[in-house]
Amino acid sequence: MSNVTVIGTQWGDEGKGKIVDWLASRADIVVRFQGGHNAGHTLVVGDQVYKLSLLPSGLVRGKIGVIGNGVVVDPKALMTEIDRVTAQGLVVTPETLWIAENAPLILPVHGALDRAREAARGDHKIGTTGRGIGPAYEDKVARRAIRICDLAEPETLDWKLDELLLHHNTLLAGLGAETFTKEQLKDFLAEITPRLLPFSCQVWDCLDEARRAGRRILFEGAQAVMLDVDHGTYPFVTSSNTVAAVAASGSGVSPSSVGFVLGIAKAYTTRVGEGPFPTELHDQTGRTLGERGHEFGTVTGRPRRCGWFDAVLIRRAVRVGGVSGIALTKLDVLDGLDEISICVGYELDGQKIETFPSAPGAQARVKPVYETMPGWKETTAGARSWAELPAQAIKYVRRIEELIEAPVTLLSTSPERDDTILMRDPFED
Ligand code: GDP
Ligand code: IMO
Ligand code: MG
Repeated sequence: MSNVTVIGTQWGDEGKGKIVDWLASRADIVVRFQGGHNAGHTLVVGDQVYKLSLLPSGLVRGKIGVIGNGVVVDPKALMTEIDRVTAQGLVVTPETLWIAENAPLILPVHGALDRAREAARGDHKIGTTGRGIGPAYEDKVARRAIRICDLAEPETLDWKLDELLLHHNTLLAGLGAETFTKEQLKDFLAEITPRLLPFSCQVWDCLDEARRAGRRILFEGAQAVMLDVDHGTYPFVTSSNTVAAVAASGSGVSPSSVGFVLGIAKAYTTRVGEGPFPTELHDQTGRTLGERGHEFGTVTGRPRRCGWFDAVLIRRAVRVGGVSGIALTKLDVLDGLDEISICVGYELDGQKIETFPSAPGAQARVKPVYETMPGWKETTAGARSWAELPAQAIKYVRRIEELIEAPVTLLSTSPERDDTILMRDPFED
């Protein structure tokens, strides 16, 4: 009986939230281990729609949710989200939500710097969510982050704020943006501290106790391998590692606790923000995918760029992400298309290449080589068993498995929780 780690294999928004919610019925604890409120996970349960950014999706099932040390926590955004889901009937208390006391905070300076830098980048902007994710991770690595545990030590907070402001105000002033005073940050922290501190604990210790008690853990990744700061389309990436290995360091458990790695992939591809996207479609088919898939960013509302399934990129995500099996989502969005293409290789400057290059210029020039197969006229929307799928849809899934060199172990056929087909239970592996 293993744990399960869910990660995205494309550029995010693959449907991780829906799959984590579905799998959470088999788990005791759901752990977020990286990213922040740049994530947007939509869960549909009957007539309720839950939009989660920072809260682990398992809370919707009444499971314990954990925010690990690898997450960057915007305390205001967290409290707003807790209030929103509480109004929807969820129970979020220090008993059901554990937050690592060594997690770094996102402060107002981080969002301001993120947005000022994006504005200064002009044509070379990354298209960030503007929520301060990058600057907060930079501060963590530079050893000047304010962590949740610092809130309980006013004397520490005082000198750390001085160091933080020296750095940020220099940058903000240089970019022509408004600077912050120590009083402003102190007032911000004083307001959130009484609500935040009761949730904080030594998460690594609680998870170790849970492991000894034989409780099953589901690790919930945010973003995806192509947005990973090392393995993605750098610099058009987020500022954390998104691969499964980080589930361990981002929550303080052993690497052996990661368990079965379930990679989530859409049956086509989308991307929000800037950066290379070889299979992007600028034609009517791209618009059709966007309309039928309701492809708008959960966090920023931006339309998502759409394109065909890129088997070469997913094969790479499977390898670097340590993926054991794939959950293929949004198969229903392809219903009714005459033909469906899969990218099976690339050309760069007229030469065939086997893998995606690393430098941004070459990544932008890569042209996809397609294999095209007939679509299906029947509907897969709402299918809950393999037997309900049209033969051509099954062929598409089988071809994907061959190309990405990994089994498809789950299929999703609508946003609704139960419209899911299980081929192999990842917890039983
Ligand atoms: P995440 O960031 O990976 O959790 O994905 P998002 O929630 O941001 O985006 C996925 C969107 O697709 C959400 O609106 C889901 O409700 C929806 N969705 C998930 N699975 C399916 C599916 O199989 N079919 C359809 N049509 N929509 C789905
Ligand atoms: P989920 O968990 C899709 C993208 C942003 C931008 C880049 C960097 O819902 O899959 P950042 O604010 O992180 O510095 O932005 O990463 N991005 C996402 N795209 N889904 C996400 O999360 C994303 N989180 C960040 O659009 O291109
Ligand atoms: Mg999302």
